[in-house]
Amino acid sequence: MTEDTLSATSITNNLGTRFIGRRVLYYPSLTSTMEVAKEEARQGAVEGTVVIADEQTGGRGRLKRAWLSPRGNIALSIILYPSLSCLSSLIMLASLAVVHSIESTTGLKPQVKWPNDVLIKGKKVCGVLIESDVQRTKVSYSIIGIGINVNLKLADFPEIQPVATSLSDELRKEVSRLSLVRHLLVEVERLYLTLSAGGSLYEEWRSSLVTLGKKVRVTADETVYEGVAESVARDGSLLLRSLDGKLTKIVAGDVTLRD
Ligand code: BTN
Repeated sequence: MTEDTLSATSITNNLGTRFIGRRVLYYPSLTSTMEVAKEEARQGAVEGTVVIADEQTGGRGRLKRAWLSPRGNIALSIILYPSLSCLSSLIMLASLAVVHSIESTTGLKPQVKWPNDVLIKGKKVCGVLIESDVQRTKVSYSIIGIGINVNLKLADFPEIQPVATSLSDELRKEVSRLSLVRHLLVEVERLYLTLSAGGSLYEEWRSSLVTLGKKVRVTADETVYEGVAESVARDGSLLLRSLDGKLTKIVAGDVTLRD
C-alpha cells in the first residue's frame, strides 16, 4: 500500500475554517498527541491548534487503556477553550464530527456506541478521548483526542481484530487520510460554532447511538451494571434500567453490547 503523506501545510491550505486547524503541529512520530497538545494549551496556544502524528508510541485511550496507533491511521488532538456550559457536549461534538466526516469521505455509515466510540458494523473504527482542565467555574482548556483506524490491516493486529475494524478493511481499498482529516476539522468547527451559539447536538447524537434499547453491561468506577440502555440525558449520561426496574444514571463508563 502507498501511504498518503500528511503535513501541516497540506492540512491547513484552503481549509476554509475560521480557527480549527489554522495552526497545525505535525509529527512523523510522537509518544501521544495528547501530551503535546496539553503542553501547548498550558502555554496558551491559539484555539483550534491541531497536534497530529503519523504514529504514536504511547497512545492513550479512555479508562487508562493504551491506544494502538501505528502508521496509516489518524491520531490527532485539538485544543479548545470552551465555556463550562459546552463542556459536556464535546463528547457529542467529537463523535458526530467523526461520523459525518467518515460518511462524506467514504460513504460508509458509522454509528456511535455510548459515549463516543464510533463503530462500523458493530466494530470500533474510532475512539475519542477528551481531557479538560477546569478551575472553579472556568475551563482552562479542553483537548479532544481522536484516533481513527484508517489504513490499518486488522489481520496484522490479531489482538484487536475481533472488536476493531478500519476504513480500508471495510472498503477493501486505501482511504486518503488527508481528505478525512480536512473534512473532520471543518466538521468540528461547524459543530463547535453551533454549540457556542447556544445550539444543541443532543438529538442528533442520541439518534446516532447504537446502544439505546439494547441489553448492555456497563463498567463504571469498577462497578459492573447490567440492564437495558434506556436513554441518554442531555448532559450525555447513560440511563440504564436494571432487571429490578431501577434506573441508574451513569456519567462515564465502558459499554459492552450483549445482544
Ligand atoms: C478510546 O477509545 O479509548 C479513546 C482513544 C483515543 C485515541 C486518540 S489518538 C489521538 C489522541 N492521542 C492519544 O494518545 N489518544 C488520543
